[in-house]
Amino acid sequence: MNSKEELYLKYKFAKQMLETEINILIEEFIFKYGYNPVEHVKSRIKSEESIMKKLEKKDYDKTLDNVASHIHDAVGVRIVVSFLSDVYDIVSVIKKSKNLIIVGQKDYIKDPKDTGYISYHLNVLVPIYLEDKTISVEAEIQIRTIAMDFWASLDHKIQYKFPKEIPLDVKERMYENSLIIKELDKQMMHLNDTVNKYEKQ
Ligand code: GTP
Ligand code: MG
Repeated sequence: MNSKEELYLKYKFAKQMLETEINILIEEFIFKYGYNPVEHVKSRIKSEESIMKKLEKKDYDKTLDNVASHIHDAVGVRIVVSFLSDVYDIVSVIKKSKNLIIVGQKDYIKDPKDTGYISYHLNVLVPIYLEDKTISVEAEIQIRTIAMDFWASLDHKIQYKFPKEIPLDVKERMYENSLIIKELDKQMMHLNDTVNKYEKQ
């Protein structure tokens, strides 16, 4: 097995490769359609502390082997787009990439989590070309609208305030707020479709 340093180096390379690949795919999309669906892209490597916390939560021993085999989002990219339909456009562009292998996908827009969390997740294998071999590292890509991102960011902050159990009424209200987000995204997308029709006239 790799040393911790080697593993983190792989994560660093994977993050760089994935950022580049995603930037190219987005720029190509903008060139082709003359429209930029992306608000912003953010990538990160999960901190050692968060990785260890996650292993603990999943009941695995804190070993490097377990990190390599059970942590699927050590490398993560989040693509925040304007409209609901943009999410699916970006998902389909990523799925067509010749450099990324899709190993998992979760449509939490169609099936939101019980918490109310809405997003589209793609798990991909990112190739890394080392001096003597090519390896692949798994990464998680989250694609969501600004509205979904707004909800998820605040939800994340609330979760931090209650490290043990989030009070039921807080959970319920966050769930209700997620329904508003969902409705708002639909309304904004319809509004945008209408405005686009005006533009074409
Ligand atoms: P992991 O091994 O944690 O990836 O388990 P999983 O595959 O069941 O989870 P999934 O990939 O579906 O979601 C994990 C990531 O989604 C988290 O790290 C968060 O970024 C995000 N996420 C999932 N649920 C919630 C939620 O209720 N609130 C917020 N704010 N984010 C969430
Ligand atoms: Mg995951």
